[in-house]
Amino acid sequence: MDQLFVNASAAPYPVYIGEGIRGGAGDLLFPEAKEAEKMFIVSDSAVAPLYLEDVVQSFPDGIEVFTFTVESGEASKSFAVYERILTAMLESGLDRKSAVVALGGGVVGDLAGFAAATYMRGISFVQMPTTLLAHDSSVGGKTGINHPLGKNMVGAFHQPDAVIYDVEMLQTLSDKEWRSGFAEMIKHAYIKDAAFLEWLQTHMTSLEDVKSSAVSMLKRSIQIKADVVALDEKETGVRAHLNFGHTLGHAIESTAGYGRWAHGEAVAAGMLFAMRISNEEGLSNWNITKEKAWLHSLGYPLDMKTMNASSLLEAMKKDKKTSAGVLTFVLVTEPGETMTKQIPDETVHRLLTSFIGEAETE
Ligand SMILES: NC(=O)c1ccc[n+]([C@@H]2O[C@H](COP(=O)([O-])OP(=O)(O)OC[C@H]3O[C@@H](n4cnc5c(N)ncnc54)[C@H](O)[C@@H]3O)[C@@H](O)[C@H]2O)c1
Repeated sequence: MDQLFVNASAAPYPVYIGEGIRGGAGDLLFPEAKEAEKMFIVSDSAVAPLYLEDVVQSFPDGIEVFTFTVESGEASKSFAVYERILTAMLESGLDRKSAVVALGGGVVGDLAGFAAATYMRGISFVQMPTTLLAHDSSVGGKTGINHPLGKNMVGAFHQPDAVIYDVEMLQTLSDKEWRSGFAEMIKHAYIKDAAFLEWLQTHMTSLEDVKSSAVSMLKRSIQIKADVVALDEKETGVRAHLNFGHTLGHAIESTAGYGRWAHGEAVAAGMLFAMRISNEEGLSNWNITKEKAWLHSLGYPLDMKTMNASSLLEAMKKDKKTSAGVLTFVLVTEPGETMTKQIPDETVHRLLTSFIGEAETE
């Protein structure tokens, strides 16, 4: 088992990474959750039948374990499901020493984390990621739910006390979810680590390559995320760089209807578009055809022909990445060198129109 640390301001917390470690989750959580006598595990309808029982069984006698299963999918990050979780937590008699465990992907992590952040003004919280994407979402303390008017619009920063990443659970992921999670690794490489990016582009030329090298790549990718979070926990500066590809990515997800594009698939298209912008602004010299070919070889869809530039622009303007009505993009000027820049709507619209057209002709 490997162990990394995230240097959060309140207290550093461990990220355990290993094969089959879910069965030892109960032991790993102590001493972190030493005072908890009640554990409340949130999972989803795809993950619970596969892995929940192993985690429940891992807790020592004397700990009362409650479970709550939500429907798999983004729609569970809603006020209604959040309220049901809080109701179940109250009915289970959880107190301020109790802990919430999120066993699932980013949806369960964000939702259960927000419940933990707000229950009795905040109780202990442990992440047990089950998707590749959740190597990113489980570290850093962003929790939240969606509002009908926008994704992740209601939330809180609430760092977990530990992250337990049993990579064996990744074996049951669909190819779409592997691809989705790998996009966040690619993002980390683009924004912070030129050598890692070069290694990925040389060695990861199919999804099978990604699956067989996942564990070693995960450690590097989590370390990049942890380093950024340690510098800027509440996203007042450099943490915003983690949003590379997300300005258009979130707009694609919401415009297409949540679930059609996996989060990372949309981010992959968003990263290409951000490169397009930085080239246009004279800040970079990306060979976009080459970058796009690499993403295609990994199976990213990148086909936006059913979308139109005006709807995407409108969706982007509702996102959190707007400041005083002007869109802010994260731009990677060369591998590992990242900045943010406000871009006028007219420029975004013009570039989007041709970007969509280029995707269509392929
Ligand atoms: N908090 C953050 O910092 C942060 C960062 C990135 C993304 N996110 C959020 O994460 C969410 C996306 O996360 P995700 O891609 O993990 O989505 P997800 O949680 O919906 O999981 C994707 C799908 O895989 C299934 N699944 C999960 N684990 C499985 C397993 N081991 N085997 C088989 N099926 C499994 C789920 O049921 C779901 O159908 C979005 O809501 C996004 O906003 C949060």
